[in-house]
Amino acid sequence: MKKILITGGAGFIGSHVVRLFVTTYPDVHIFNLDKLTYAGNLENISDIESAANYTFLKGDIVDGPYIQSIFEEHQFDSVIHLAAESHVDRSISNPLEFVMTNVVGTVNLLNAAKHIWKDNFENKLFYHVSTDEVYGSLGEEGMFLESTAYDPHSPYSASKASSDHFVRAYSDTYGMPIVISNCSNNYGPNQFPEKLIPLFINNIRSNKPLPVYGKGENIRDWLFVVDHARAIDVIFHNGRQGETYNIGGENEWTNIDLIQVICKAMDKKLGRETGESEKLITYVTDRAGHDLRYAIDSNKLMTELDWKPSLQFEEGIEKTINWYMDNEEWMKNITSGDYQKYYSDMYQDR
Ligand code: NAD
Ligand code: TYD
Repeated sequence: MKKILITGGAGFIGSHVVRLFVTTYPDVHIFNLDKLTYAGNLENISDIESAANYTFLKGDIVDGPYIQSIFEEHQFDSVIHLAAESHVDRSISNPLEFVMTNVVGTVNLLNAAKHIWKDNFENKLFYHVSTDEVYGSLGEEGMFLESTAYDPHSPYSASKASSDHFVRAYSDTYGMPIVISNCSNNYGPNQFPEKLIPLFINNIRSNKPLPVYGKGENIRDWLFVVDHARAIDVIFHNGRQGETYNIGGENEWTNIDLIQVICKAMDKKLGRETGESEKLITYVTDRAGHDLRYAIDSNKLMTELDWKPSLQFEEGIEKTINWYMDNEEWMKNITSGDYQKYYSDMYQDR
C-alpha cells in the first residue's frame, strides 16, 4: 500500500487535503503529522479519524530525530508538506518561531526523505505547499506568474520563501523529485479566527468591533479552500516534477469591499437591519509592511492540468458564513483560553 505523509493535517487547509485524500484514495495510507499548535484541531477531521487508511501522528517537524524516526518506521513514499506557522501578524511579533517551523522544519523533512529514499527517487515525491506572499506586493496592475522573482516582505513570507528555496535546492543538488504550489488567500470552513474572514464573522455575531487595518484598500485574491485541496490533488498526481504551479481564485477584493459583503450577508443571516453590522467597522493602525495587492495568474495550472475553481465567490462566502454560524461550538472551543490573550495583545494598542 502506498504511504503518503501529510503534514499540518489538523490545520485549516491540511484538514481539507487529508479528508480529500483519505476518502478519494482508499488504497493509499494517509499519515497526518501535526504538532497540534493553537492552529491545529483534530475536531477538523473527526469525520475521517476512524478510516482504515488513516493514521494520526502527533509530533513536531522541528524535532529532527523524531522526524527521522517516523520516516524509518513508516517508509513514506511521498510527502505533502503543509505544516507551518501561517499568520502574518504573529510572524511580526515572533519571527523566530516562523524560522524554526517553516524553515528548519522543512529542511528536517527534506533530510529525512532524502535519507530514507537513499537517493533512489523512483516513484517518490516531495510536494511543498506555499503561498503567493513570497512574490511580494503588486501595484494596481499585473499578476504573479510562476516566474515572478521572490520579494517577501513579512517574516512569514520570508520564511516561506526560504523554505521554497530549500525545496528547490534539494531538487537541484540531490535530484530530489519535488513540486511546489503557491496559492492565494484561502477561505472556508475550519479556518482559525485570527484570519480576516472567520474573525470578522465571529466578531459580527458577538457585536464586537471589526478592526480594519489602514484604509481597508489592500487587495487579496480569495480561493475557496476545497478548491485549493482539489488543486493539490491534481498537482500531486499529474504535475510535472521540479515545477511550480500558482493557484488562485481569479477573485480580487479590496478588504473593505469584502468586509461590506460579509456585513450585509451577516445582517440577513442574523435578522438584523441592513447596515447594522457595518457600524462595527473600526479603522485601526495598519499592519507593518502591509502588502498592497496579491493577484495570481493560474493559467499554467488551468491549461496544463485542467483545474479551475469550482465555486463562484457568492456561493463560497455564503457556504462559509453558514458553516461558521452552524458550528458555534467549534468556534467557542477554539476561542476560549489562549485565544483571548492573543486577541487582547494583538489589538489593544491599535
Ligand atoms: P494553519 O495555521 O491553519 O495550520 C497549520 C497546521 O500546521 C496546524 O495544524 C499546526 O498545528 C501545524 N503545525 C504548526 N507548526 C508545526 C510543527 N512545528 N510541527 C508540526 N505541525 C505543525 O495553516 P493553513 O492556513 O492551513 O496553511 C497550511 C499551509 O498552506 C501553510 O504552509 C501555509 O503557508 C500555506 N498557505 C496558506 C494559505 C492561507 O490562505 N491560509 C494560502 C496559501 C498557502
Ligand atoms: P489575513 O487573513 O491575515 O491574510 P494575509 O495577511 O495572509 O493576506 O488578512 C487578509 C487581509 O485583511 C490583509 O490585507 C490584512 C487585513 N486584515 C484586517 O484588515 N484586519 C484584521 O483584523 C486582519 C486579521 C486582517
